[in-house]
Amino acid sequence: MCTKEQLLRELEGKGVVTPEWRDVVASVDRAHFIPEVFEGHDRRTEPERWKRAVYSDVPLVTQVNDGIPVEDGGFRLSTSSSSMPSVMLEMLDLLDVREGRRVLEIGTGTGYHAAWLCHRLGDANVTSVEIDAAVLSTAVGNLAKAGYHPATVLGNGRDGHRRGAPYDRVISTCTMREVPQAWLEQCPDGRVVTPWGSSFFGGSFATLDVVDGTAHGSFSGDPAFMWDRTQRAGAGRVRDFYRGEEGQKSTTDVEPQNVIQDDPAFFTALSLTDAWYRWCEAEDSSGEATLWFVTDDGSSWAAVEYAPGRAAYEVEQYGPRALWDEVLVAFLRWHELGKPERSRFGLTVDGDGQRVWLDTPQNVVGPS
Ligand SMILES: C[S@@+](CC[C@H](N)C(=O)[O-])C[C@H]1O[C@@H](n2cnc3c(N)ncnc32)[C@H](O)[C@@H]1O
Repeated sequence: MCTKEQLLRELEGKGVVTPEWRDVVASVDRAHFIPEVFEGHDRRTEPERWKRAVYSDVPLVTQVNDGIPVEDGGFRLSTSSSSMPSVMLEMLDLLDVREGRRVLEIGTGTGYHAAWLCHRLGDANVTSVEIDAAVLSTAVGNLAKAGYHPATVLGNGRDGHRRGAPYDRVISTCTMREVPQAWLEQCPDGRVVTPWGSSFFGGSFATLDVVDGTAHGSFSGDPAFMWDRTQRAGAGRVRDFYRGEEGQKSTTDVEPQNVIQDDPAFFTALSLTDAWYRWCEAEDSSGEATLWFVTDDGSSWAAVEYAPGRAAYEVEQYGPRALWDEVLVAFLRWHELGKPERSRFGLTVDGDGQRVWLDTPQNVVGPS
């Protein structure tokens, strides 16, 4: 029989439960926060299978396509979820939460993460903002069922929630393109943790310390959160943007998978903010693959054909933008800089906006 103790044991086995969070994980039952039916699981017909998913260290998608019904075969974009518990613990560790601190959470989702905060800090110290009215209403019900009553707000998390300010901590559970000024105004001397990036690469946590309204911070982790709903990156399947058009053909000697490794992709995302990529492996066992790049608006794409053992790869680029050329410019610049790891970059946010730097705040490298 699957129980909440099982989730605790799995997380302890991974070594991610610190003494401060152990009682929280042990006490807050994830089952209160997960719908009876979600993504192929139905508690009424297969209760044990449902519980196995709920008490596992996996993210659980609870809404797709903003709750708008998906036609048969339509693309399913995950738009709300209960985050992966080990990733929640990783973020909370970065947040450095202590008793008595006031926390603003962006992205209430199911309410499970807000419940963890309430259990540790008390309802009065937690404010959670969600942009989707239906998601928020369900979360408020889930939280009440579990015995928690934080301040919950329907709104765009980028605006924070002025009425509850000041906060000691801001934590976002959706990916941001920039750290909003409102957070710094409402948390002028504290810490902000958010998944951060642009369409090309959004897989970093930004952890910023705010002093007198100016924030400095670093990048870490490997998060895969959904986007801030008001600034999503493009997504979809190849057939959603490629309709057999012919593009400009050329070749490249750069092995395509090298440009999408975390460190160069992080750097490329500073200049190429409005395009995403997809690596599609051939279905036979040839080891061949196509790396697609697509602008968020779908007007330009590039495809690079990878085949093992080749010295040159075929490139095709279509539309007003030459996307592979843009990727190469950033990739070569990253080489010129000595192939810096992501941990060497930092972020400053102040009244003039946000700047990414390499090694020292004076050496600004993005956005460019
Ligand atoms: C990964 S889910 C949240 C997981 C949640 N913390 C939990 O434990 O269940 C991300 C949530 O952020 C919400 N969201 C997206 N953009 C937002 C925005 N600009 N402001 C507030 N909420 C937003 C989504 O609707 C979604 O519910």
